[in-house]
Amino acid sequence: TLPTHVELVEVGPRDGLQNESSTITTETKLELIQRLANSGLERIEMTSVVSPRWVPQMADHEAVMSSFAGKTSARRYSVLVPNRQGLESAMAQGVREVAVFTAASESFTQRNINASIEQSLRRFEPVMRMADEHGINVRGYVSCALGCPYEGQMDATRVADVSRALWQMGCREISLGDTIGIGTPLAVKRMLEAVLRDVPLEATAVHFHDTYGQALANIYASLQEGVTVIDSAVAGLGGCPYATGASGNVATEDVVYLLNGLGIECGVDLANLVETGNWIAHHLGRDNSAKAARALTSA
Ligand code: HMG
Ligand code: MG
Repeated sequence: TLPTHVELVEVGPRDGLQNESSTITTETKLELIQRLANSGLERIEMTSVVSPRWVPQMADHEAVMSSFAGKTSARRYSVLVPNRQGLESAMAQGVREVAVFTAASESFTQRNINASIEQSLRRFEPVMRMADEHGINVRGYVSCALGCPYEGQMDATRVADVSRALWQMGCREISLGDTIGIGTPLAVKRMLEAVLRDVPLEATAVHFHDTYGQALANIYASLQEGVTVIDSAVAGLGGCPYATGASGNVATEDVVYLLNGLGIECGVDLANLVETGNWIAHHLGRDNSAKAARALTSA
């Protein structure tokens, strides 16, 4: 049976914008985040504290964090951090929730964060300790959960091993990333079965990119396994700067449309979200990749 309620984690302001070639002003980013919150999204990954040399689009992270982190709000605003330096800057702005990231693939981890998987996990130890001391909630991402741009298919047991390591370190949620959008539903099912041997279902999230147009099918497969946390990006923004050819995240509008059809609650006002998607696509000078948005806009 399918779940009755799903939590959407909107990653557009981070995963989306980190890979858009046109730069938008900090003001527009802040408006984007506010509009996303207004549409009913309860969890928003607002930026990342990474090296501006590696990802210039996130260089204004301090301004973004200071605008939203301290706010008294029912919404959860999180930040992606690669190391202790990232956590410290996030905490300095009042952020209460962060995400660390590694991968199931050695080559990808090397290119993405200049470390081996083992080194990345060791780098997270002081992050986890500090987060724990300050009551900061940590999510852990596992990239290349269904395939790697350099190594091809990924063995589900490797994904499970990295997921278990993050879980045992204290990550309260594990987000399984199909970074290059290569997976199909049967692979998703097998991968989830492997991960769920060690990570509780309630703590498991899925993060699909839509390169091959499989994201919604993969989400449906994940719902069938009982997953209740889904990552997505408004207007299907983004990609990953270290995964050539990776297209954007699954569009939040399309996920909301799917969930509405299935009678699964997510708290988002689709019409309002579609307006925001069209608005940000216009600012970026690109088309809105969300099919539901296109259909509802021309209707
Ligand atoms: P490095 O060069 O190995 O590390 O980079 P370093 O410690 O030698 O630092 C180099 C420079 O970065 C120094 O500055 C540090 O101060 C600075 P410099 O002295 O050269 O001026 N630095 C930082 N600056 C800001 N914030 C920080 C930070 N740490 C060090 N936290 C590092 C290692 C991890 C920093 C680098 O590789 C990096 O920033 N990588 C970012 C990669 C990234 O953002 N990738 C995209 C996000 S992951 C993703 O999209 C996948 C996901 O969506 C899931 C999926 O789809 O699969 C999550
Ligand atoms: Mg991603």
